[in-house]
Amino acid sequence: MAFWNRRKPIEAPQHQELKRTLSWPHLVALGVGAIVGAGIYALIGQGAGMAGPGVIVSFAIAGAVCACAALCYAELASMMPASGSAYTYTYSSLGELAGWIVGWALILEYSVVVSAVAVGWSGYASGVLTGFGVNIPQMLPFGEMAGHALHFNPLAVFIIFLVAGLLILGTRESAWVNSALVVLKIAALILFLVIALPAFDISRFTPFAPFGWGSTPQADGTNIGVMAAAAVMFFAFYGFDAVSTAAEEAKNPGRDLAIGIIGSMVICTLLYMLVGAAAIGAMDFNMFASSGEPIAEIVRSLNQPEAAAIIGGVASIAIPTVILAFLYGQTRIFYVMSRDGLLPRSWGRVHSKLGTPVIMTIFTAVVCSALAGLLTLGEIASLANAGTLAAFIAVAVSVMVLRHSAPNAERPFRTPLVWVVAPLAIVGCLYLFSSLNLGTIERFFIWMAIGIPIYLLWGARKSTLAVKG
Ligand code: ALA
Repeated sequence: MAFWNRRKPIEAPQHQELKRTLSWPHLVALGVGAIVGAGIYALIGQGAGMAGPGVIVSFAIAGAVCACAALCYAELASMMPASGSAYTYTYSSLGELAGWIVGWALILEYSVVVSAVAVGWSGYASGVLTGFGVNIPQMLPFGEMAGHALHFNPLAVFIIFLVAGLLILGTRESAWVNSALVVLKIAALILFLVIALPAFDISRFTPFAPFGWGSTPQADGTNIGVMAAAAVMFFAFYGFDAVSTAAEEAKNPGRDLAIGIIGSMVICTLLYMLVGAAAIGAMDFNMFASSGEPIAEIVRSLNQPEAAAIIGGVASIAIPTVILAFLYGQTRIFYVMSRDGLLPRSWGRVHSKLGTPVIMTIFTAVVCSALAGLLTLGEIASLANAGTLAAFIAVAVSVMVLRHSAPNAERPFRTPLVWVVAPLAIVGCLYLFSSLNLGTIERFFIWMAIGIPIYLLWGARKSTLAVKG
């Protein structure tokens, strides 16, 4: 078999290594906990600025595409619960080169999500600190490079290193802490709805799509329109891998995983659409489009400073868990890819005493901090979306390929209507990808143009499968 086409064997689920303790309400909570973060709390301002009131349609489109991809994920996660997610699934179904491309896209996604969520968090943290009389701006400008304004985001760098430190010490979020934070995150959004809905003014919804329904490039390199906003707000929906990776612990994976994934997607989509509608109904969207803490800002504008402080406080406490999840995911991807020989083995090495990958975690934190200072929230989130969309497309292709090439493999969960859902996921992801701005698409392909030669020069020879022969 050609080197680029060799496949990792499907690792069947390890029977009953983990206790089956999770039923569907746990899985829904797990999903909502991993999904709700900077997307709805911070990025919504930019989304509204790009689409106008039509941003609620952007939420519906992004949520529907994500739900189709999530159902494909769930089947593969239940077949191959070994870590590595989309990278492992693609390696086993489409071969080593495709696996490498997805792994390389995931490295981009995970690092960039960490930066984006840290930048989103910094807006709220800065607001909370201002309330205590401490003024730490979100951005400190320092010069320009190749026409791009450079700035330093002290709070984003602080939170990235704080979370990296916790990971190095082996901190994992306990189920109890996760549940408490999920409740807090949702409660703060409900508090927002309770305050914003009485101020609802339907006239703020006309015109509904002032920038059009598509994705139109602007002179400054950004795109506007409902689809452009969907491609950016897509960021608010992922993180559900958390549910699919719990396949081994689900009491009844065949049924509960579907409920967990679809349930968390439906809850988040409806909640986001409601929050979006309430936000636009309560304040002219141009007024909060560039705010670092739009949800708190709207509440403040409605003369509710205490409630704004509560929402800001909850966002500051709860959002870092998303950073924890993705920074952890990043080290896990490095670990699996280096175990397969596609990255240097030293990259996956864990510290002898702490049992955690110290060097890789620090390296990732440095890269994420630099990105947080170089790009704006919208730019970073778009880049993360490009990597994620590429991985989702590969997952949807893989699920169909494996139905064909490994029809008898054990599948505790089967994607319903797979021949409809998987193609829908592919078309939807391609459409969202093409709605990203040109700068993001270019950055994504530059990243790939760096990655493919690395594979050809290094991974193709060093791969564990090559060494085995
Ligand atoms: N969905 C995650 C968030 O919005 C990445 O923070």
